[in-house]
Amino acid sequence: MQARPPASRGASVRIGRRFARVEKIHVCRAPHSICWGIPDQPGASPMRDILKTLADEHDTLRSLFEQINATTDRAEKKRTELLQKIEANLIPHAKWEELVFYPAFAERASHDQLLQHAEAIQEHRAVELTVLPDLHAADKTSRQFAGSVKVLSEFITHHADEEESEMFKAARQLFTPAERAELDEQYEAWKASPAAAGLTFHAKAKTALKSIVRNPKAPG
Ligand SMILES: [Fe+2]
Ligand SMILES: [Fe+2]
Repeated sequence: MQARPPASRGASVRIGRRFARVEKIHVCRAPHSICWGIPDQPGASPMRDILKTLADEHDTLRSLFEQINATTDRAEKKRTELLQKIEANLIPHAKWEELVFYPAFAERASHDQLLQHAEAIQEHRAVELTVLPDLHAADKTSRQFAGSVKVLSEFITHHADEEESEMFKAARQLFTPAERAELDEQYEAWKASPAAAGLTFHAKAKTALKSIVRNPKAPG
């Protein structure tokens, strides 16, 4: 019989005027075969890994940015569709990193690794507060939009490259395979939850509001 995982602690996260319950990382110190009954015997099916999932999502974003950067100013419909796909992939990814992965990383990080953590948070803030609202303020048939998309893609690509080469590399040492597998399960469940939908909706609404007060001088 499989051992039940210890209860994880929850955290209240503000979504607009409401608070939502978000699962905090449960850090298991039991042997891998006890924690969630994950097999660790030779020949067992490979364990899932949050770091692989997050890196795969980075690849999806890289591909979407390649596609949107290749569009012409006349491709308004295509740009609209691709921007929607980019946000649908980017926002839940970034929010979960902020809510669960980054705090869990910071709890175990060394002094130097805390710098990676602080840098990543600031990059998320810059995208959310400036780069995305500027992009939404631009006419999709303009050079302003093409330029803003280029800046967003460079920002996200740089951020993803650094996460993979620094934070994820460090996290591979800081978290056991069983913990990374459990985080992966938590992430999948969270993405399908009303809390994730609410947080994504709130983030989009915030971007839309900020874009209204932007008045970029489009070169046409
Ligand atoms: Fe990130
Ligand atoms: Fe990421």
